[in-house]
Amino acid sequence: DWIMGDYIDEAVEKIRAQVGSEEVILGLSGGVDSSVAAALIHRAIGDQLTCVFVDHGLLRLNEGDMVMDMFVGKLHAKVIRVDAAEQFLGHLAGVSEPEAKRKIIGREFVEVFKAQAQKLRASDATNNGAKWLAQGTIYPDVIESGGAKSKKAVTIKSHHNVGGLPEQLGLKLLEPLRELFKDEVRELGVALGLPHDMVYRHPFPGPGLGVRILGEVKKEYAELLRRADAIFIEELRNFKDETTGKSWYDLTSQAFAVFLPVKSVGVMGDGRTYDYVVALRAVQTSDFMTADWAELPYALLKKVSSRIINEVRGINRVTYDVSSKPPATIEWE
Ligand code: XMP
Repeated sequence: DWIMGDYIDEAVEKIRAQVGSEEVILGLSGGVDSSVAAALIHRAIGDQLTCVFVDHGLLRLNEGDMVMDMFVGKLHAKVIRVDAAEQFLGHLAGVSEPEAKRKIIGREFVEVFKAQAQKLRASDATNNGAKWLAQGTIYPDVIESGGAKSKKAVTIKSHHNVGGLPEQLGLKLLEPLRELFKDEVRELGVALGLPHDMVYRHPFPGPGLGVRILGEVKKEYAELLRRADAIFIEELRNFKDETTGKSWYDLTSQAFAVFLPVKSVGVMGDGRTYDYVVALRAVQTSDFMTADWAELPYALLKKVSSRIINEVRGINRVTYDVSSKPPATIEWE
């Protein structure tokens, strides 16, 4: 609409005035905030923006390709895709404690990003390289980092973020979404031409499948989990609630599969199976601080379970998580 159109014009002008002819780099995760920030900055300065997309091997099915199709294929933005799966999995080998896993993923992420940023600075012959680091910081993040969260005595989970990176890299910070709430960011994304499904996607944690594979992360586990999770999400999108007409994907705030590295006995055809277990998690929440498990229709659970067990060889049992937050958290690690 015209109001959003005006907002985009103003934001574009502001970015151009701030950045001038200097180069900007941005860490693209595929999440809503960094995607909208990238689309907006690209609208403003085109090829002066370089996005760095780090694939840590713990993304969802086809996620990397989808990000590249959108940003390179459709928006024609410059994106460097770094395939760091081996590096991340290597560092995670033998580590099963959740906080230790989170720290490794966070640290490696910063290392990989820094290396790319330095390479970009060094390789740019036209001027002195990138001067700006762009981030998809939104208004609630601004409040959170200055307020209640930092005063909390107990850290339940150390969140993956890139705080401190601009200083370490000697870059100025560009945060064009700093004044916006999440719904405004989504509207802006749609107005900039990002697809509805990308902009209204459930949140996905920075450490990705790393915190959805319980205990030690292995490539084999990630591959099984990715396929099970994709089936769950596909069926959530397919199943509509009769009274509202909305899909169960839209009726839940977050939904995903969790890989349990234990084996149980099953039967398939004439044979015995001895395979892994997957738990399904779906919650409804307004703020993610508390959450209720979602009362998904049995028909949906039934379909998802039978599809996962039939289609994902290596998983022979599916369970549904009926724990609310608190005392459980949304993610299992
Ligand atoms: P929990 O599991 O603490 O999760 O109830 C609350 C919300 O935060 C997300 N989450 C993260 N997001 N980096 C993120 O960007 C992280 O390290 C991280 N850990 C949890 C979680 O998916 C849920 O939406």
